[in-house]
Amino acid sequence: MALPDSFLELLRSRCDIEDVISQYVTVKRRGRSLVGLCPFHSEKTPSFTVFPETQSYYCFGCGAGGDVITFIRNIENLDYLDAVRFLADKAGIEMPEENREDEGYKKLREQILNINRSAANFFYKQLLSKNGVSALKYLRNRGLSDKTIKKFGLGYSSDNWTSLTDYLSGEGFDKELMKRAGLCAKNQKGGYYDYFRNRVMFPIVDVRGSVIGFGGRVMDDSQPKYLNSPDTPVFKKSLNLFSLNNAKGSGDTLILAEGYMDVISIYQAGFRNTVATLGTALTAEQARLISRYAKEVVISYDSDGAGRKASQRAITIFADTGIKVRVLSMSGAKDPDEFIKKFGADKFQMLINKSENHVEYRLSQLRAGFNLELPDDKVSYLKAAAEILADIQSSVERDVYAGKIAEELDVSRESILHEVKSIIKAKWGKKQKDGLRKEEQRIHAYRDSVNPDKAANLKEAKAEEGIICTIFFNPDYVDNICKRLGDTPFVTPFNKKLFDTLCELVNNGIQPDTIVLSQYFTPPEMGRISGIIAQRDLVCGETLIEDYIDILKEHYRKRLTTELESIDNDDLKDYMRQLGKIKGKGSNRE
Ligand code: UTP
Ligand code: MN
Repeated sequence: MALPDSFLELLRSRCDIEDVISQYVTVKRRGRSLVGLCPFHSEKTPSFTVFPETQSYYCFGCGAGGDVITFIRNIENLDYLDAVRFLADKAGIEMPEENREDEGYKKLREQILNINRSAANFFYKQLLSKNGVSALKYLRNRGLSDKTIKKFGLGYSSDNWTSLTDYLSGEGFDKELMKRAGLCAKNQKGGYYDYFRNRVMFPIVDVRGSVIGFGGRVMDDSQPKYLNSPDTPVFKKSLNLFSLNNAKGSGDTLILAEGYMDVISIYQAGFRNTVATLGTALTAEQARLISRYAKEVVISYDSDGAGRKASQRAITIFADTGIKVRVLSMSGAKDPDEFIKKFGADKFQMLINKSENHVEYRLSQLRAGFNLELPDDKVSYLKAAAEILADIQSSVERDVYAGKIAEELDVSRESILHEVKSIIKAKWGKKQKDGLRKEEQRIHAYRDSVNPDKAANLKEAKAEEGIICTIFFNPDYVDNICKRLGDTPFVTPFNKKLFDTLCELVNNGIQPDTIVLSQYFTPPEMGRISGIIAQRDLVCGETLIEDYIDILKEHYRKRLTTELESIDNDDLKDYMRQLGKIKGKGSNRE
């Protein structure tokens, strides 16, 4: 959809790409551009580049790129309009009138948020009513104070098949809408019934304070123990965290727990900086969300095998976000909820204080699996520990840990460091090889999803990209270039579409820039476009344009010749030759 120019103009002036990106990525100035570590793939040397001049970014490592809107689409995982809305919101710009379909969806989301709020109120009232006596008793038995219950807006869904559905109908809500909100379901006869029944209810509230979904727990041993709202237009399990609304702004550290009850217990013990995933393992999006709100995360999962495994997994996921990771190890209790009940808040604080950074955690986990009295085990432990040290980026830190392990096992620090270095070297070699292969793949554009025909027509595609880059920076060349091209077509479809779009914009008096283009191209396509314009210094120039056009003309001539030669009629061929339609090689320069 095309947004009004005036709106785009405002967005362009208020959302400088440098400001927006530096809220997510640490960038350093290098000449005319800024560089940093790419947020879209994992890398140790910066290849993510921001170009203030063209208000674009491009990662020379993974090919991600685009304008400020594409950046927000990628990093916040939003579609085009939501990304624009996100930026407009932050910049205090009002969105232009939206077309009816979007208006409809926006309205649907508002209605679902409304209905969720009413449902949360109903559940809360039920909990305090005669109906909810046993549920309230259950929560109190689990050690929750009335204040905590109120703070989290906990509730009760009664054991009746239609009590919420009836209540919401009475409030004037449409049943189909209740279904879209994930609050009721439809049976085969077409009747609607409550989705949550006879459970204590945990509303899930987003950072804006809207109720986006629910979790419900049974009060006995039946299954499933927890039921969560299905994904709806306002709720995506993998993108949200429980209690982030309470935790946001509480400081530099966030505690990540496994579940609802842990969060609430930890909160009640005085740590409001606690969040949990919502019935799924930690996702990359959630890790990124956490890293936006905190500098350090303390993973406090269950102390059982599953919890330890999940912690190891979370460590790897957090590795890509750059956030500092510590892991809490607990004994004597199965989870933080039980720990706090048994030992109290102070002891929990102590656990946090002495929680290990992720290297210590991985080493102690590893150590537990070996009997270090046995020589064989000792060797295996050393080898595996060296692998862990090889992941540490700072050599000082590596030295320190090598020293600790050396002391503990009574071996020399040097021999450990030697082992670590050879692992790093092997990894580095593999990385370089991988890098080279990737580069080759890029050059030959294997599996090029943006412009699949580029691989087979590399020379022509490069020429096309040179023309495109030139027009982008010198729109006044369009007429001249089009005249010189005549009926010579572009060879590769993506470049043709891009060229046509640019020409059309220019002919309509619109200065082509990345923000304008991102209305017409997908994020991967925007990546390609940013890559093309990032080559400005290499590919723009009047003399080069001549060559580009010659390359395309030559290709066209060859194609016509082949097509003609496949016509099985010698007379026609002779006739055409005489007409001079097929010129000899090089004659197109005349
Ligand atoms: P747990 O089974 O560890 O529950 O699941 P818990 O947090 O200790 O809860 P209590 O103390 O028994 O009440 C951890 C989290 O996994 C999700 C929930 O988000 C839960 O908080 N889960 C668990 C589900 O989504 N469904 C289930 O059936 C079980
Ligand atoms: Mn648990």
